[in-house]
Amino acid sequence: MTKINSNIRWEHRKLSREDYLERNGHPSMVLWFTGLSGAGKSTLAQRVEEKLFATGWYTYILDGDNVRHGLNSDLGFSEHDRRENIRRVGEVAKLFTDSGVVVLAAFISPYREDRDRVRALFEPGDFIEIHVKCALDVCEKRDPKGLYRKSRAGELPEFTGIDSPYEEPLVPELVVDTARLDIDQCVALILDHLRGRESKRRMVDAAGTGAGVSP
Ligand code: ADX
Repeated sequence: MTKINSNIRWEHRKLSREDYLERNGHPSMVLWFTGLSGAGKSTLAQRVEEKLFATGWYTYILDGDNVRHGLNSDLGFSEHDRRENIRRVGEVAKLFTDSGVVVLAAFISPYREDRDRVRALFEPGDFIEIHVKCALDVCEKRDPKGLYRKSRAGELPEFTGIDSPYEEPLVPELVVDTARLDIDQCVALILDHLRGRESKRRMVDAAGTGAGVSP
């Protein structure tokens, strides 16, 4: 379905990702929150963003419900549309990281293959998959938007976890179980992971051009 042809050529930019990173004083990356509806992806993304923003990092949240109001308003919840949703969001996340921004992407993103395809767009280490794990019955009890109820009543077809699949990540960078940990503990785990990643990066980056601030 690719429409790239010989009449389309890549326009090289004068500024590179490295220029943006150097100016910003922090790395860019994607924190990809995946999990069932009601697991806490959006809440966690927002809480982590607040922390990173407060340290002076450039951040942006891409959230399923919001992106589906605009860029992806033509997509529904069939397998095909969900795949296209994630493909587009992956490309958008790539553009943001090229401009030096830390992207926090909160999408159910139910298919492993699609998440892996997004991962492949990034340098190793720049795509951090966070499985926001939460047992289905707990998500259903929370039911913050009343969608599980609608789904059980047969008013909402193809609802993830009920009559549409969710494929758990096999080797995500991080798992946070929101049924067992409170939100502050989950945020702390994510920030710890980022700190660990940063100190490793600084050790490798002997020239010391890395982040001036740490999350
Ligand atoms: S994804 O499966 O394509 O990754 P995405 O994260 O963009 O989904 O959107 C999920 C949000 O859409 C849910 O949080 C929920 O509010 C809403 N939604 C509406 N219909 C469905 C459905 N059939 N399955 C899952 N979520 C739905």
